[in-house]
Amino acid sequence: MADHTKIPLGGTWCVVVAAGSGRRFGGPKQLELVDDEMVVARSVRIAASVCDGVVLVLTPEIMGDVHFDRAAVTTSGGATRSASVRNGLASVPDDAQVVLVHDAARPLASPALFERVIEAVRQGAAAAVPAVSVVDTIRSVDGGVVDRDRLRAVQTPQGFDAAVLRAAHASGPEGTDDAGLVEAAGHRVVLVEGEPTNLKITSPHDLAVADLLARLADDAADPADSGS
Ligand code: CTP
Ligand code: MG
Repeated sequence: MADHTKIPLGGTWCVVVAAGSGRRFGGPKQLELVDDEMVVARSVRIAASVCDGVVLVLTPEIMGDVHFDRAAVTTSGGATRSASVRNGLASVPDDAQVVLVHDAARPLASPALFERVIEAVRQGAAAAVPAVSVVDTIRSVDGGVVDRDRLRAVQTPQGFDAAVLRAAHASGPEGTDDAGLVEAAGHRVVLVEGEPTNLKITSPHDLAVADLLARLADDAADPADSGS
């Protein structure tokens, strides 16, 4: 059941989108485990540690399978990622000033990364996006090597002035990320330093890497717990 209850809190909210089908993975990757924690639960936990509230967007089929330590408002997703973001946005309180959008499939984004994105928006950016340099040599299918110094790979969480994000989504546009929609609406997108470890789980191979990285990150954060 969709729950569009609006919790009366201002400040910074995060929409975590987890309503994809995981076609390339071969199933609902958001329910897999990294360091013994469900991918989607980890993404929500980290978002909730730095935001005033979290809206989690899920498919009705997996709603009963997702368990949290921390409360999040849940709602149903749409046919596309952009539609899922819009459904989530509808449950963000009207007085939120900063809205982040985060892929549940990126459970390794650190609290420090969330804070960098939030800070850039608080400092006046309409949109702030984590980006990392590209390490591979990139070749165009039309021929020729592309200058990788001019390229960045973009991640989530992406942060926005709430009014700007709502306006960019008002006409129901489609795009692979929200910064692209906000840019198409005429706003400048600021890049903040992303994290090479903040990978998006797309294939089963990515899950194996993410599990290892999550264990390393968690052991570094709490050495006493390492190996348990
Ligand atoms: N997502 C969503 N609603 C959709 C499509 C995607 O909420 N209709 C979410 C996914 O759950 C994921 C994030 O958007 O957390 C990024 O999408 P992606 O990595 O492409 O996940 P899937 O769409 O599930 O995977 P695939 O494209 O392989 O089917
Ligand atoms: Mg997809």
